[in-house]
Amino acid sequence: MAQQDEVFKKIVSHAKEYGFVFPSSEIYDGLSAVYDYGQNGVELKNNIKRYWWDSMTLLHENIVGIDSAIFMHPTIWKASGHVDAFNDPLIDNRDSKKRYRADVLIEEEIAKMDDKIEKEVAKARKRFGESFDEALFRQTNPRVAEHIAKREALHERFSQAMNDNNLEELRQIIIDQEIACPISGTRNWTEVRQFNLMFKTEMGSTADGAMTVYLRPETAQGIFVNYLNVQKTGRMRIPFGIAQIGKAFRNEIVARQFIFRMREFEQMEMQFFVRPGEELKWFQQWKEWRLRWHKALGLGDEKYRYHDHEKLAHYANAATDIEFQMPFGFKEVEGIHSRTNFDLSQHEKFSGKNIKYFDPELNESYVPYVIETSIGVDRMFLSVLCSSYDEQKLENGETRVVLHLPAALAPVKCAVMPLVRKDGLPEKAREIVNDLKFDFATHYDEKDSIGKRYRRQDAVGTPYCITVDHQTLEDNTVTLRERDSMEQCRVEISELHRLIHDKVSLNSLLRKLS
Ligand code: GAP
Repeated sequence: MAQQDEVFKKIVSHAKEYGFVFPSSEIYDGLSAVYDYGQNGVELKNNIKRYWWDSMTLLHENIVGIDSAIFMHPTIWKASGHVDAFNDPLIDNRDSKKRYRADVLIEEEIAKMDDKIEKEVAKARKRFGESFDEALFRQTNPRVAEHIAKREALHERFSQAMNDNNLEELRQIIIDQEIACPISGTRNWTEVRQFNLMFKTEMGSTADGAMTVYLRPETAQGIFVNYLNVQKTGRMRIPFGIAQIGKAFRNEIVARQFIFRMREFEQMEMQFFVRPGEELKWFQQWKEWRLRWHKALGLGDEKYRYHDHEKLAHYANAATDIEFQMPFGFKEVEGIHSRTNFDLSQHEKFSGKNIKYFDPELNESYVPYVIETSIGVDRMFLSVLCSSYDEQKLENGETRVVLHLPAALAPVKCAVMPLVRKDGLPEKAREIVNDLKFDFATHYDEKDSIGKRYRRQDAVGTPYCITVDHQTLEDNTVTLRERDSMEQCRVEISELHRLIHDKVSLNSLLRKLS
């Protein structure tokens, strides 16, 4: 784990050093859990968004996009349940004055128990080799059985307390498990209180009677309140979907792990409206489609897993997370939820407007059911960054740091470099840039040795480097160097466009999905 922590620290500093992610307001010592994206970060982020947006709106003729406002009528958040129930249970340690999420403290305790169990299993696997029967071992080894029983009992008690919203019981679990504050090391805990995660602000002048409004904690509600506008103006027929990308805000208590949990972040959400009774079929379909979208990036199929929810929100009848293996464990990147007709029915009730859909095939009106796919742009960014970061030992003893970014997502697609800064090579290189720049993010780089320039491009994940040398002036060929293999080949300048396009275009990625 310590080694993973080290790697993660390196990724965070690499992200800053190479213009991907900066702490927000850094010259004022930063603002907790808020980050800015730099010159390379914004390109990578835009490419991730483009991949998602095109996969939704181009590949599905029944999905269209919208861009709703961040400010919305405050009653929307009453109807959606966020005013009353978008809470985290928090607890303070009286000695360190640090604040924690009570549920996270308990989940970490359960994770420690899981670690213990896995360690025992790993030890036994090593001891018994080929003949090891893991299922049998888990059932029969007394120490493992004892750990499993304790873990299950704690999990059961915790789930019950969360389901019943029993804050006293959550505190009692923390006391009984002897969970100590990681800072002070003491168990001097306050009561557990509910804390609403929405940011409030005021709209209008106070003299006129200002209205309390919220920064939206999810983009989904902007889709729900517009669903009938889109359906009518777009003449959409069920099943159909509405996609949206936009900022969301949550006053997270535990804001840790870099851009994994932020107070201002971005979501890519799609609500798919279906006939009542057909939602579970569509839920399965979207579960499959979304995993395929992730895997098409080639970050490693083994890095993904589903986590089906045992405890469902009151409005959901199925929910799963797609988790990705971050350096700090498998973590949720995307949620897929069957939200029934809860949100739309609530908006119908609170607004007093009829927002039923008339189904011409059934000749009846109903409130559609909804399947939601919701993915955090920043978490997606983090998963791409973490799985692409690599430190390679080279044959000459040097180490190169390379980002094996999926080529279609790379901020810079190719860099053109004159071997030397004279003899007409820079002019020839500029000519190539001026041709390629209309189709690809192309950089021109003439500073430092060619080796250093390659390293710089590797560090930001540029898939191709094109070197212009004296031979170029004679026969119009250049050296094309591929990032991952570092292989170089001589190609005609006229071939560059085709060769690069094949590898870096979003088009080839999207084709894998259909
Ligand atoms: N509309 C449903 C919804 O918002 P969610 O599970 O709360 O569901 C969806 O959020 C996704 O948004 C998560 O899977 C995660 O990728 C991202 N997300 C949520 N909170 C976040 C935060 N504080 N920082 C970064 N990303 C976050």
